[in-house]
Amino acid sequence: MEERKGFKSTFGFLMAAVGSAVGLGNIWGFPNKMGSNGGFAFLLVYLVLAVVCGYIVMVGELAIGRKTGKSAIATYQTLSKKFKWLGWLATLSPFLILSFYCALGGYCIKYIVLNVGNLFGAAFGTNGLSGGEIFEAFMLNQTEGVVFGIIFLLITMFIVMGGVSGGIEKFCSVGMPALAVMLVVIIIRSCTLPGAVEGLKFMFVPNFAPLKENFLGVLATAGGQMFFSLSLGMGVMITYGSYLDKQKDITKNALVIVIFDTLVALMAGLAVLPAAFALDPGGKIGGPSLLFVTLQNVFDSMGGIGAVFGIIFYLLVTLAAVSSSISLLEVIVTHFCDKATEKGKGDKRKIYSVIAAAAAGVLCVLVCLDGLGYSGYWVPGRVLVDGAWQYTAMYNDCWLDFFDMLSEGIMMPLGALLMCLMIGYEIGPDVVRDEVEKSGGKMKTYGFFKICVRFITPLLMVMVLIGQIKDFFL
Ligand code: PHE
Repeated sequence: MEERKGFKSTFGFLMAAVGSAVGLGNIWGFPNKMGSNGGFAFLLVYLVLAVVCGYIVMVGELAIGRKTGKSAIATYQTLSKKFKWLGWLATLSPFLILSFYCALGGYCIKYIVLNVGNLFGAAFGTNGLSGGEIFEAFMLNQTEGVVFGIIFLLITMFIVMGGVSGGIEKFCSVGMPALAVMLVVIIIRSCTLPGAVEGLKFMFVPNFAPLKENFLGVLATAGGQMFFSLSLGMGVMITYGSYLDKQKDITKNALVIVIFDTLVALMAGLAVLPAAFALDPGGKIGGPSLLFVTLQNVFDSMGGIGAVFGIIFYLLVTLAAVSSSISLLEVIVTHFCDKATEKGKGDKRKIYSVIAAAAAGVLCVLVCLDGLGYSGYWVPGRVLVDGAWQYTAMYNDCWLDFFDMLSEGIMMPLGALLMCLMIGYEIGPDVVRDEVEKSGGKMKTYGFFKICVRFITPLLMVMVLIGQIKDFFL
């Protein structure tokens, strides 16, 4: 049987895994959620969760993936009787996330083009319109939305076609260091603007009130953010683990991924919020409008050089988004490639990359046509009554929100919870230990892993799930 080609080096693997973790979630989700949920106090909750849930689930997923050397679907089928079907859930989540990730990635490309237009004073620049006007016009222009979304999806597809080492590893090994350099350039510019300190205060000043008033809410927000940000609770880390060779140290790599992802989230806060507070004090600080309205206003207000910073910034965000979306597509593609290889037909990677991208493209087009609800219809939970939107119990603003709720809000914490139960009670945590120890040496964190995977992580997961469901449906 043909050999499955995995990552060539530890550095390449780390860049790919960190690339998957670092994405839109870090750049707009984290700084804003941290700021509105208690600042430094939120960071503490997040860090505790990252250690007792994020790290544990990361080690578990990498280990079971590497043990079987198969896709997420086949991994669960091989290891478990009770959770055989869990791999399907772990493959459906990436599919849903991909739909809105590509739409948003497309917006980032559009904004690179917009800022190039500004640089040359071309007609495709902002032409004196405000960030809000530009964004609204773009959201209402369904053709443009779809075209940019598909460009982003095609970029993702071509990289995945290149394979794990030839496409994903190569792209991330260059892209991630480049992203770090650009981030530092933007941080320096942002933090040296007059008035920048307000943004830092928003993010970092500890405020324990939210924790006292609504602890479950803060826990759910931090938990959902952490899962999304670390690409956990779905097939990504199982799939990347399956391409990892036995010499690599799983526990060390898992720790590095968690640390880097958190660092980049904090750095993104330093890049984004001081500038937003300094130059667009009334601007919205969360969600897509932070990225595409508030920050575009910031770049416009810097004069000629603003376009250069705009290009660097949106390029950086696009890189972060591509390195995440390739991991999402890879989960689906790996499954079909493995199947084809088993049948002795070669992996047929190219054709499966096209089919998987086309299938994800259907949902992506829906999200693009919807334009964050500006021009969309039939969003679950939203009805038009006498010309105004009204919301039913299942609150959703747009298709993006709906897919996000299903994946990040429910499927990811649920997937992680069930995986912990499988490891903790069905196959036993020693299966993970044995796999980790294949690289030589003892698994020093085994005692901690065992207690967490059996008791602490599942309990916290249940609390996160309850908090999320309360948030969405009640
Ligand atoms: N971790 C990515 C982010 O923070 C999103 C993602 C989720 C990527 C799940 C892959 C899998 O934006």
